[in-house]
Amino acid sequence: MLDLNQRLIGYRCLDCGHVHNPVSFHYTCPDCGANLDAFYNYDLITSHWDKQGLADNQDRSLWRFSPLLPVMGQPENKTIQVGGTPLVTAPCLSEEIGIASLWIKDDTRNPSGSLKDRASEVGLQHAAELKMDTIVTASTGNAAASLAALAACHGQKAVILAPATAPPAKLTQILQYGAILCPVDGNYDAAFDLATEVAERFGWYSRSTGINPVMSEGKKTVALEIAEQLDWRAPDFVFVPVGDGCIIGGVYKGFYDLLKLGWIGHLPRIIAVQADGSAAIVKALVSNSIIKSVQAQTVADSIAVDLPRDGLKALRAVRESNGFGITVSDEAILQSQKLMAEKTGIFTEPAAAAAFAGLLKALDGDLVKSDNSVVVLATGSGLKDIAAAQKMITIPAAIEPDFAAFQKFYQAAVEVQAH
Ligand SMILES: Cc1ncc(COP(=O)(O)O)c(C=O)c1O
Ligand SMILES: [Zn+2]
Repeated sequence: MLDLNQRLIGYRCLDCGHVHNPVSFHYTCPDCGANLDAFYNYDLITSHWDKQGLADNQDRSLWRFSPLLPVMGQPENKTIQVGGTPLVTAPCLSEEIGIASLWIKDDTRNPSGSLKDRASEVGLQHAAELKMDTIVTASTGNAAASLAALAACHGQKAVILAPATAPPAKLTQILQYGAILCPVDGNYDAAFDLATEVAERFGWYSRSTGINPVMSEGKKTVALEIAEQLDWRAPDFVFVPVGDGCIIGGVYKGFYDLLKLGWIGHLPRIIAVQADGSAAIVKALVSNSIIKSVQAQTVADSIAVDLPRDGLKALRAVRESNGFGITVSDEAILQSQKLMAEKTGIFTEPAAAAAFAGLLKALDGDLVKSDNSVVVLATGSGLKDIAAAQKMITIPAAIEPDFAAFQKFYQAAVEVQAH
């Protein structure tokens, strides 16, 4: 493989545009403090790597895209596969909502149950290459569970700061994987600031989304996979749930890289979906202004963010791809979660269901047409937040274990289902 020093030109500042040498790694721009973006030598990469070479690669994990990742190598110990998740057609759902070309990118199938594994996997390798053995992150829950899982896989140390109110399943995952969990009596934004200070003071590697450009590089592999799975035809639309803006920034970056390599002919329109009660980025898009902090309140805990930390990348993703931002209510999120589960068998957490809710609203508003091709990102598993999912269902009372009781129960259940 091509040497990293040749492939990766540097990290470019999203605000002042300065390109910083990757040899001395900075999380944010040393000149102005804004976020950075990895910047590659695409001509050199295409002279050593082509679609056929990729097709011949038997590695189904995200490491098949190594030439486009900002690390030298890959983990030696890979007991679990990150990436390589299915892009599924959803015939029942397609019929229900009237879109023939609909795909769900099922990233609930990553090892810890969310798309965040992509960032953790690449970030942990980056930390190892920088010879930093402890990795700290702030997280609404999924990034933490993911860091804990992959640190366990690769034998590294993870320290997590998460809001104490994060869903118990996510906190349980973190502890099961053996990471150090420090619940914070505050929201995600408070945990974020503390994690940044802890990383600086202890000299630990920071995996926090929004200040580490390697995170969106890991997340961009979801777009690389979508394009390969669609045989290098970019869809018309990709719907992405947005909190900090790192995932959507990564989605854009993946398609951008492929456009630069000449492997796809156009960018898909990238749609940012936020909850009504946590919509700092969509508000900035709609008013064509800068991002202002909000007081986030939504059932979709993973996208509850006051001040998005990767906002510039999110705005760029939507603006450069001619996309748009859309918000959805908590009620619509929970209904969409149920509809997707019923019609596809994919059980998403509310944040992930928000993307699908965004598609339904866009269809209603005629922003998407029935003959458009659409990919919806399913970013996290519903098993991570059972309490939210239970708002839409009622677990039936137990019956006596005899046939007559079952007959009565079954008749009533069928009637309920018919309504
Ligand atoms: C399941 C899920 N979906 C969407 C998001 C939003 O990603 P970002 O904060 O990068 O915008 C998150 C972030 O925690 C998440 O866990
Ligand atoms: Zn700068």
